[in-house]
Amino acid sequence: MKFDITNLLRQNIKELIPYSSARDEYKGKDGVFLDANENTHPDKYLNRFNRYPDPLQLKLKEKLSEIKGVMINQIFIGNGSDEAIDILFRAFCEPGKDNAIICPPTYGMYEVSAAINNVKIIKVPLFVETFQLDTKNILESITETTKLIFFCCPNNPTGNGVKWQDIKTILELFNGIVVIDEAYIDFSSYKSLLYELENYPNLVILQTLSKAWGLAGLRVGLAFTSATIINVFNKIKPPYNINSVSQKLALKELKNQEEISKQVKEIISEREKLTFEITRLNCVLKVYPSEANFILVKTLSATNIYKYLVENKIIVRNRTNVLLCEDCLRITIGTMEENKLLLDTLSNYLS
Ligand SMILES: Cc1ncc(COP(=O)(O)O)c(C=O)c1O
Repeated sequence: MKFDITNLLRQNIKELIPYSSARDEYKGKDGVFLDANENTHPDKYLNRFNRYPDPLQLKLKEKLSEIKGVMINQIFIGNGSDEAIDILFRAFCEPGKDNAIICPPTYGMYEVSAAINNVKIIKVPLFVETFQLDTKNILESITETTKLIFFCCPNNPTGNGVKWQDIKTILELFNGIVVIDEAYIDFSSYKSLLYELENYPNLVILQTLSKAWGLAGLRVGLAFTSATIINVFNKIKPPYNINSVSQKLALKELKNQEEISKQVKEIISEREKLTFEITRLNCVLKVYPSEANFILVKTLSATNIYKYLVENKIIVRNRTNVLLCEDCLRITIGTMEENKLLLDTLSNYLS
C-alpha cells in the first residue's frame, strides 16, 4: 500500500502554524540576548540556568545520531517516550473518529494516551503463552480510520521479542503509521529495527534513556522516523520540552557507553540467574523467557504473594488482572543483593 502522510495527518495539524520561540529564530551563539524575557543576570548558585534550553536539543541529537547511526533530522526527543506516544495520537488521530490498534497484554500508556485524546482502541490480543502477534487478526481488524498500530519489542509485561517477519507483514500492508516501542531493546538479543527506517516511511521507533541508560528521572524519550514525521513532532511539542539539566546530564551519560554496556551485561546475567533460581521455588509455576530487564512469573497466587512481598518491603508489579497474565507478577531485575533478598524472602513464603 502507498504511504501518504498528508492523508494521515489531522486537519488541524496540517493547518497548524507552530509557536516560534526566540531561540528558533536566531541560531548564533554570541550576542546580547534580550529576546526571551529571561532574567539576564546569571543565577548565582546554580550554573547558568537563567536561560531557556535549546528547543531542538542539537548537542544531544548529535551524540545520539553518532550512537544510533541515524540522521539528526530523524530524531525527536520527548519528555519521556510517553510524550512521543501522546504526540502520535495528537498528530494522526481525529478524536471521536479515528482508531489505533494495540496487542494486549502490552504497555498501558498506549491505551491511556488514546483515551486522553478520545481515540478508540482496537485490541488484538497476542497469542496465548507464546505472546506473538496474531497478524491475520491484526490485518482483519484494520478499518478505514485506523491510523496507528503499536507493537512493543521486547514487550512489556511479557518480556518476549516480536518476530520481525510479522512486523514486516503489517508494515507492508498497512498504509498508516506502525510504531515499534523498543524501550527494552538494549537487554535483548533482537536487533533494533532502526536500520529499517530508510525502507519504511511509515515506521516510527520509540526508545528511551529510562531503561538501559539508567536515566528514568531525567525523562528523556526518543522517537526515530522519517524527517517528514519528525517535523510534525517538532510542530506539536511544547517549545522547551527538554529542560537544560536533562539535556546536559543525558549528554554526559551518553559519553559513558562502556560503563552502560557493562551494567546491561550484568543485568542480563542476573536475569538468567534469577530466572533459574526463582523457577525452583514452590510458589512459582513458570517464568516466561525474557529479553528485557524484568521477568514475568506465573505463580500459585499472584495477589497473595504480592501482599506478602509488600509486607516484607519488596515491591513488584501484580499483573494478575491483565489479559493473559492471570496470577503473574512482573519483577524488575535488581542488583545481585536485591535479587538474593527477593529469592530468600520468596523461599519463606508459605502458601
Ligand atoms: C514499553 C515501554 N515504553 C515506554 C515506557 C516509558 O518510557 P519513558 O520513561 O521514556 O516515558 C515504558 C516504561 O515502563 C515501557 O515499558
